[in-house]
Amino acid sequence: VIELSLRPQTLSEYIGQKKVTDELKIYIEAARFRNEALDHVLLYGPPGLGKTTLARVIANEMGVNIHTTSGPAIEKPGDLMVLLNELEAGDIFFIDEIHRLPRIVEEILYSAMEDYFVDIIVGQDATARPVHFSLPPFTLVGATTKAGSLSAPLRARFGIVLRMDFYDEKDLEKIVVRTANVLNSNIEKDGAIEIARRSRGTPRIANRLLRRVRDYTQVYADGIISNIMADKALTLLRVDQKGLDAVDRQILTTMIEHYQGGPVGISSIAATIGEDRDTIEDMYEPYLLQIGFLRRTQRGRMVTASAYEHLGYQIPKNI
Ligand code: ADE
Repeated sequence: VIELSLRPQTLSEYIGQKKVTDELKIYIEAARFRNEALDHVLLYGPPGLGKTTLARVIANEMGVNIHTTSGPAIEKPGDLMVLLNELEAGDIFFIDEIHRLPRIVEEILYSAMEDYFVDIIVGQDATARPVHFSLPPFTLVGATTKAGSLSAPLRARFGIVLRMDFYDEKDLEKIVVRTANVLNSNIEKDGAIEIARRSRGTPRIANRLLRRVRDYTQVYADGIISNIMADKALTLLRVDQKGLDAVDRQILTTMIEHYQGGPVGISSIAATIGEDRDTIEDMYEPYLLQIGFLRRTQRGRMVTASAYEHLGYQIPKNI
């Protein structure tokens, strides 16, 4: 229950992503005015930026129920049918990690999304027969970190496609202060700025770091989160001045020490440091690209001069 009130419930409470929320406000108001289901929405962008939160906000603003599932959880057409069967007119059907839906399940969604019906074969062999299911008008909200790996026909069925961006420091600071208030925790402005600055543009990280800093100040100080306390706690957590964690730094130092700074493929990096390739690609690489520590080239990833400098290496001449 506490976890829930941590998340904003309405668009006006939702901090940042102004381009996304400005657009949504219009579409929600128009759909409500016409008393129709909102068009299908695809939210894409790096993890931790609030895609699930936004799906709940949309449901709340539309005044409808939300049914939540994820791509990997739907293994066969029958799993999808059970969920579709629960929908009422106008409801939100939220599929997280929608790029991981099996192809046969995806194909059922085409007619469900476009014309609110499903034709499937029920029974086996001699008893097999086609069955036609009508569905109420509903809104599919899909979330993905990899818009590129959605099939083209599925992507084409989303009328509203919104890209979530990393948050700027100002918005993250507001989120940290808001969360601190929800947690009944005393924070100074400079403390919030320090946490925001080291959160890699990601509210999920900001809120996690806030909790750890809060623990630290409770044990080592008076519980008031100042920038000095934040710095001490984050240093203990090995979150550096740029917000990079141990894995971020390991990726960069591996590229520098084993691959002369690149170009090197993501699979080679993953194998060398023993991390999952998708984890590096989804969770680590986007921010390193965003702050200009990594560069993508035809032949692979390359470390930039600013990354060499940040990690205390001499910058190579031919970079
Ligand atoms: N908590 C996490 N993300 C948030 C956001 N975008 N706005 C308000 N609170 C949040």
